[in-house]
Amino acid sequence: MTETSIAPAISPKEPPRILSLIGDTPLVEVTQFDTGPCQLFLKLENQNPGGSIKDRIALSMIEAAEADGNLQPGGTVVEATAGNTGLGLALVAGAKGYRVLLVIPDKMSQEKISHVKALGAEVRITRSDVTRGHPEYYQDMAARLAKEIPGAFYVNQFGNPANPLAHERTTGPEIWEQMRHDVDAVVVGVGSGGTLTGLGRFFNHMKPRRGIEMILADPTGSVLYEYVKIGKLVESGSWAVEGIGEDFIPEIADMSLVTDAFEIDDEESFATVRELLRKEGIFGGSSTGTLVAGALRYCRQQTNPKRVVSLVPDTGNKYLSKMYNDFWMTEQGFIHRPPHGDLSDLISHRYEAGEVITVGSDDSLLTAFKRMRGSDVSQLPVVDQNGRAMGIIDESDLLVKVHRDPSHFNDPVKKAMTDRLETLPPNAKIADLLGVFDRGRVAIVMDDDKFLGLITRTDLLSYLRLHMPKSAAPPEREFV
Ligand SMILES: Cc1ncc(COP(=O)(O)O)c(C=O)c1O
Repeated sequence: MTETSIAPAISPKEPPRILSLIGDTPLVEVTQFDTGPCQLFLKLENQNPGGSIKDRIALSMIEAAEADGNLQPGGTVVEATAGNTGLGLALVAGAKGYRVLLVIPDKMSQEKISHVKALGAEVRITRSDVTRGHPEYYQDMAARLAKEIPGAFYVNQFGNPANPLAHERTTGPEIWEQMRHDVDAVVVGVGSGGTLTGLGRFFNHMKPRRGIEMILADPTGSVLYEYVKIGKLVESGSWAVEGIGEDFIPEIADMSLVTDAFEIDDEESFATVRELLRKEGIFGGSSTGTLVAGALRYCRQQTNPKRVVSLVPDTGNKYLSKMYNDFWMTEQGFIHRPPHGDLSDLISHRYEAGEVITVGSDDSLLTAFKRMRGSDVSQLPVVDQNGRAMGIIDESDLLVKVHRDPSHFNDPVKKAMTDRLETLPPNAKIADLLGVFDRGRVAIVMDDDKFLGLITRTDLLSYLRLHMPKSAAPPEREFV
């Protein structure tokens, strides 16, 4: 055997093949919604390997930096990001063997941070409550780190021309072919503005003189809708949809390409994306709801048949604990339960509706502990077969039993639970609740002997936050 015949078939310098699966995403027609006289098609960017449209720009920005010599073997890729751009970069740059350093604002979810770390990225957490010009603002910090680290390349998706170019060269032409060269309008959102600018340029080129309308769907609270409608920058508010909406006009966003705009509030975005999953089986992220709601409004306003395209920019997987979770939706005020005007309005998980995780008095302490861990709570009501609350068991009760001898995990719950219950009737006052909390307990709401549910400190805080006047809520910044 010669030496060359045992060389690996694939050179270790060649990046993993998954990168060749970025782009070429499917396009599907929406058939279960009222689209007026129009046909509506969605480009499924959630099917990219990293789960979002940002895989495309990650690849394009890294390859451009390699071609320009700004990124060399052994180099470090630095970006300020919280969301999909970080995932895309961690995937692409990581696969190509670069060190990836992401500066992430501290309001971002642990799940997203875990995801980029699992892809091998290093993470620096910074403040989310400061703006441009502050040394701890995520973009300023990333720019500074990139200057300090030898061989580092600051990606800067907001100002990088390879961002819109990715859409001009790939997303646009794919849509054009998939639509058989017959497109009347494209509905987009703006985060960095790459999608808008890239698609707008491409479609202007295919059908010059505004032959293809570019419609902006913008979250209520973002400044972009008003900028399109009245040409002025108004003060920004806050919104919960992720990845789109801005409090400034990004450098690469060519807003002159937009022909019309719709403003969509969080509630409509979330309701729309949930309906899209149920009716069409399409599992999109929160901005998908904004885009589809905007596209539907546009379609229904038309008097002539039109062929309209929008996007599913990212996957719903990242939002299972948010808009796909009924408790979160209720807690945030996006699902409205009929109010009773009493304490039962503060119960997030209602026993009667099967929403409360409970344990039986003959169940083992191990069962109780696993249920607490599984549902991320620190106490469980102990309920008998007739639905009567017999006691409550919390982590301290468990610890008292098992700390000397862990085999006591096999003991029954009744040996450890507290049966002196802090019960309140539904017509009790918030002051009564505070008294219960002061004694370190949770409130058990009973209507005579019918168990309705628990109220914890978090439930009360969530309720009060929901009733904070909108004008008192500070504006929030979007991180893409
Ligand atoms: C999740 C998400 N991120 C980002 C964007 C915006 O992309 P861009 O940064 O190209 O404006 C979108 C667009 O719809 C989006 O839904």
